[in-house]
Amino acid sequence: MKNHIPLLEKLFDKDYQLINGTDEIFELDLALWEYEVLSKKELVERSAYFKLVDGKETAHYKTCNLQNLEEVHKNSSFRTKIFFLDGKYSTGYATHSLFPYRGKFHPQLIRALLNILDIKPGHVVLDPMAGSSTVAVEANLLGIDAISVDLSPFCELMGKVKTFALNLDIKILESIIKNPKEVLDKLKKDKVPEYFKNNKDDKKRNYYEIILLAFLDTVGFAGRSSSSVDKLFPRVLDRYVLTIKYFQEARQKMDLKIGKSKIIQGSVLNLPLGDNSVDAVITSPPYSFAIDYLKNDQPQLEYLGQNLEVLRQEMIGLQGRGVENKLEIYFDKMNQALGEMKRVSKKNVPIIIIIGTNDIQTNGVRLETKIIELGEKQGLKFELNLKKPIRGLQNTMKEESILFFTNQK
Ligand SMILES: C[S@@+](CC[C@H](N)C(=O)[O-])C[C@H]1O[C@@H](n2cnc3c(N)ncnc32)[C@H](O)[C@@H]1O
Repeated sequence: MKNHIPLLEKLFDKDYQLINGTDEIFELDLALWEYEVLSKKELVERSAYFKLVDGKETAHYKTCNLQNLEEVHKNSSFRTKIFFLDGKYSTGYATHSLFPYRGKFHPQLIRALLNILDIKPGHVVLDPMAGSSTVAVEANLLGIDAISVDLSPFCELMGKVKTFALNLDIKILESIIKNPKEVLDKLKKDKVPEYFKNNKDDKKRNYYEIILLAFLDTVGFAGRSSSSVDKLFPRVLDRYVLTIKYFQEARQKMDLKIGKSKIIQGSVLNLPLGDNSVDAVITSPPYSFAIDYLKNDQPQLEYLGQNLEVLRQEMIGLQGRGVENKLEIYFDKMNQALGEMKRVSKKNVPIIIIIGTNDIQTNGVRLETKIIELGEKQGLKFELNLKKPIRGLQNTMKEESILFFTNQK
């Protein structure tokens, strides 16, 4: 038998070990990329995919282990618990699991992208269709400042909570939630609670926003189960507080320097940002009309007093009749969006677009092919398409593309 050298031994020195669950080809690709561009010290401090570097445990591995997920999910259903424990190093760490938004990025992937693109503290990274602000959370965890823009006011709330909860005083949160019933009564008083409308400068406002998000999470959860909001809310709130508490402990132990975030409700078609103001863009637009984000979040948006029809006019992927017309409008908006990303980012910085195609819905039109074409027409330099599979038997979409562009200006 010929001597065979296993793949991982060929790729990495023997004292390097990948973090549990790094088993997709795109992950190996990104791990190798991290290995090639980061120094040993940087790999220990920042890498997304390594557990051991020269025999030393990495910061990401240690931080995730400090988060006590078993305890956080002690009251969750078996399925939910397994889901979060499985994603311990990839999706469920820090504050990402507070409201798991549909269509959310793999946080670990974003961490790797920030590393390989050489985005560091002192830089500002933008996600102009930020959803639940996964990019901002990942950037902040690495000490990098971030800007999130999303059209949905519910996404704005998620982004504010997830980034604020990275660095807060847990005692204040615990003192506020001592009486969940009282808090719940306050939240239910009126559809848009008076408190959030009137107390813009209150120092405790951010803490109450955490409770509001837990409440809106419960509203969605109750809609899908046979239990009531009143019954479920204390459990959901408890999960939020424990998640934040254990992350705070981990942050202090690991001495993490958390970056700052600006979370803005606005449109990618007309970004409220100056020219040449950001050092990188990482984003994922709606995959044409695959998900109706407004319908998905309807109970929460209505609670927040939003007019869904007004938002619908500006929301990418939600206009038109029939496949052809819908796609035409979609690409027209994406073209405008790419123009805005080009305008607000500096010369020679990376613009990364993550997108998947549901062939059945689009009659075979590949979104990534058209986005590459539109980007090039805008003068962006297309560098690479890294493919990432989507798992799950029920998914008709089988893969996503990570498109790397450089803004040549
Ligand atoms: C694929 S999701 C992004 C998910 C995100 N990557 C995350 O990790 O949570 C696409 C987002 O684009 C937002 N969006 C759609 N049209 C927009 C517009 N005109 N301006 C800004 N955001 C928009 C939607 O609200 C949705 O949150």
